[in-house]
Amino acid sequence: MNFKLFILALSFIYQIFSQGTGITTCVANQSCSQCTSCTNCSDIVWQYNQSSNTCAVADCSKIPSSPKGLTDNLCASCPTANGANFASSDGQSCVTSSQSCANATNGNGQNWNDIDCGKCSQTFQYANSKGTQCVYSSQSCSSQNGWIDQDCSYCFPNTFANSQGTLCVQSTQSCQNKSQVQNWSDSDCKLCNDQKPFATYDGQNCCASSQNCKSQQNWTNSDCTQCQPNTFASYDKSKCVPSSQSCSSNTGWLDSDCQLCFANLKYANTQGTQCVNSSQMCSANSNWNDNDCQLCNNSQTFASSDKTKCVNSSQSCSSASNWTNQNCALCSINTPFATVDKKSCVGSSQTCNSTSNWIDTDCALCNPKYPFASLDNNSCVNSSQSCTSIFGWTDSDCKLCSPSIQFASSDGTTCVASSQSCQSNSNWTNSNCQICNPSAPYANSMKNGCADPSVSCIGRDPTLASQVWTDNDCLSCYQIGYRALPDGSNCVNCLAKSGMSNSDCALCNGTDDGDNQFANSQGQCVAVNCQQTSGWVDTDCIVCNPKTPNASSDGTTCLNTSFIALLAATLINFLLFMI
Ligand SMILES: *[C@@H]1O[C@H](CO)[C@@H](O)[C@H](O)[C@H]1NC(C)=O
Ligand SMILES: *[C@@H]1O[C@H](CO)[C@@H](O)[C@H](O)[C@H]1NC(C)=O
Ligand SMILES: *[C@@H]1O[C@H](CO)[C@@H](O)[C@H](O)[C@H]1NC(C)=O
Ligand SMILES: *[C@@H]1O[C@H](CO)[C@@H](O)[C@H](O)[C@H]1NC(C)=O
Ligand SMILES: *[C@@H]1O[C@H](CO)[C@@H](O)[C@H](O)[C@H]1NC(C)=O
Ligand SMILES: *[C@@H]1O[C@H](CO)[C@@H](O)[C@H](O)[C@H]1NC(C)=O
Ligand SMILES: *[C@@H]1O[C@H](CO)[C@@H](O)[C@H](O)[C@H]1NC(C)=O
Ligand SMILES: *[C@@H]1O[C@H](CO)[C@@H](O)[C@H](O)[C@H]1NC(C)=O
Ligand SMILES: *[C@@H]1O[C@H](CO)[C@@H](O)[C@H](O)[C@H]1NC(C)=O
Ligand SMILES: *[C@@H]1O[C@H](CO)[C@@H](O)[C@H](O)[C@H]1NC(C)=O
Ligand SMILES: *[C@@H]1O[C@H](CO)[C@@H](O)[C@H](O)[C@H]1NC(C)=O
Ligand SMILES: *[C@@H]1O[C@H](CO)[C@@H](O)[C@H](O)[C@H]1NC(C)=O
Repeated sequence: MNFKLFILALSFIYQIFSQGTGITTCVANQSCSQCTSCTNCSDIVWQYNQSSNTCAVADCSKIPSSPKGLTDNLCASCPTANGANFASSDGQSCVTSSQSCANATNGNGQNWNDIDCGKCSQTFQYANSKGTQCVYSSQSCSSQNGWIDQDCSYCFPNTFANSQGTLCVQSTQSCQNKSQVQNWSDSDCKLCNDQKPFATYDGQNCCASSQNCKSQQNWTNSDCTQCQPNTFASYDKSKCVPSSQSCSSNTGWLDSDCQLCFANLKYANTQGTQCVNSSQMCSANSNWNDNDCQLCNNSQTFASSDKTKCVNSSQSCSSASNWTNQNCALCSINTPFATVDKKSCVGSSQTCNSTSNWIDTDCALCNPKYPFASLDNNSCVNSSQSCTSIFGWTDSDCKLCSPSIQFASSDGTTCVASSQSCQSNSNWTNSNCQICNPSAPYANSMKNGCADPSVSCIGRDPTLASQVWTDNDCLSCYQIGYRALPDGSNCVNCLAKSGMSNSDCALCNGTDDGDNQFANSQGQCVAVNCQQTSGWVDTDCIVCNPKTPNASSDGTTCLNTSFIALLAATLINFLLFMI
């Protein structure tokens, strides 16, 4: 019993020792038979007053000290000084409410307020929201906080307390005590707590997202966190994804996160700074191409030649020009050197710009147009065969293979340091012959070839017994048709058509009758003795000297008679002119 009721009870007890002041409500047919008192108020007597047509309790002091079932009739007839004219709802006291407590809890009332309700009942002490009755709420229906579902249901039928307890709202289910099996709806969330107006994705809570948790656009990380804890907005904002970090991160990317965050970018780049549209994982170790390398790795932008990795060469490993050793080594460790024309990489045993130690196989790799190592191994040359060949040499190959011994030997088995080509047909010297052609170690007499006489053809001193000419040496040093003079002092060209002497002709042609044993006027060998002083005939004259074809009449000499006739005619003409 609260203090207010206690005071009320005391004053009531004080007042009941007086006569009732009278009421009319229970008057009927000039009797008080309609008037009621209380459950055990058998001592109460009602008196009818003819003049005022009222009923009144004869002696209010007859009311028991602990009355039950007090009626408004009794309370009206025996009011307290405070005007407690109505029986309380429990019928145990009279109260000072402004209207009868009869309709306080049956829902038929109107204009109820908390003051009256509090007077009528200790338990139904608050007027509901419409004032139609007093309800069993634990607080006033006009409270601004402290709401719970039950109070709401009393104060505002079919409502629930909002989440903060500041209002009763018409959600479809409890805000404060939602059943596990029920899902939140956005409208309930908004009613229950306008700070968290959307149902989470799983429907189990309300959250402070700025949009519906089933939205397919406009996602932000903070909304995702609200709607689906531990998720982030996908990069295109179309959904929330359970990646391990924000989709707008620029570090720490994993393939799995990329696939969650991006529709098209499936793989994290090598540094993990972003997701890329590579066609395969950036940690792959096969099938690389330049495009994927560029996507996966900012610093290693080209696929190695064997496609097993990406490398930081300065150009594509599939380039067809501009190769450097550095790029070659990066692109393909097995072919670490750039060819001379820079068009490819090769597995030579040394760098292609080397200036020493060349071998044919390296030359062929480094510089196919210069496929052979020079003899000094310092360069590659475009000879027609290896510089280590032992046959088939030509001057041009020798010159390429070895500038200091630039002529092919006569038999082509080697290169030699002659001062001119072994193919020359002039200017031969003994030393060149020796070098070019050891089997014919002397220059011949004309210096147009080499020969194999017993003694040098050139500079020979036939006055020395060891150097006299022999037929063999004449043949070697000159050519077919030469013979040595009998004294060995020289060789004679028996095939000469001029310059022959009688002795030469005799040596060459023999001295038998009819042999061409005589020299004629032109030094040709003929069978007529052109120095005879008798017996000349015209035919012999012609053989010995075509300019004097006529034998003199005495046969002692040869003349040119046509010359004499010409001389006579000229003289006659001269004489005629003088006349
Ligand atoms: C009294 O009231 C009753 C109804 O309560 C009525 O029938 C009756 O006629 C009235 N008059 C008298 C004199 O009883
Ligand atoms: C009856 O009512 C009249 C008029 O109100 C009043 O004067 C009178 O005292 C009353 N009689 C009794 C016995 O109370
Ligand atoms: C009236 O009745 C109640 C219970 O019904 C009882 O407790 C109370 O003592 C009674 N009063 C009198 C005066 O008999
Ligand atoms: C109680 O409510 C009913 C129905 O509205 C009404 O007829 C009656 O007069 C009311 N009683 C009181 C004491 O107000
Ligand atoms: C919550 O609701 C359940 C049933 O829905 C009920 O049993 C329980 O008492 C309620 N708890 C509170 C604090 O209202
Ligand atoms: C609640 O939501 C979950 C997930 O969206 C769904 O599987 C379940 O069926 C829903 N429950 C009800 C009662 O609608
Ligand atoms: C949501 O996205 C649509 C279309 O992308 C846009 O028009 C709208 O302004 C966005 N709303 C908000 C709140 O950002
Ligand atoms: C990703 O690459 C594929 C082919 O490699 C291409 O078709 C697609 O358009 C690319 N997507 C993006 C987002 O660049
Ligand atoms: C080769 O390199 C030169 C100079 O660096 C450059 O100008 C040229 O374009 C390159 N050629 C190719 C095919 O890359
Ligand atoms: C070969 O070229 C590289 C640079 O391409 C240079 O560093 C190196 O010294 C060169 N070697 C020779 C022997 O020229
Ligand atoms: C032969 O040698 C001379 C003098 O040394 C020279 O002038 C001439 O050109 C050479 N002839 C040939 C065909 O080499
Ligand atoms: C002798 O001389 C002639 C003419 O000069 C020549 O043709 C001939 O070959 C020489 N030798 C012999 C053995 O007759």
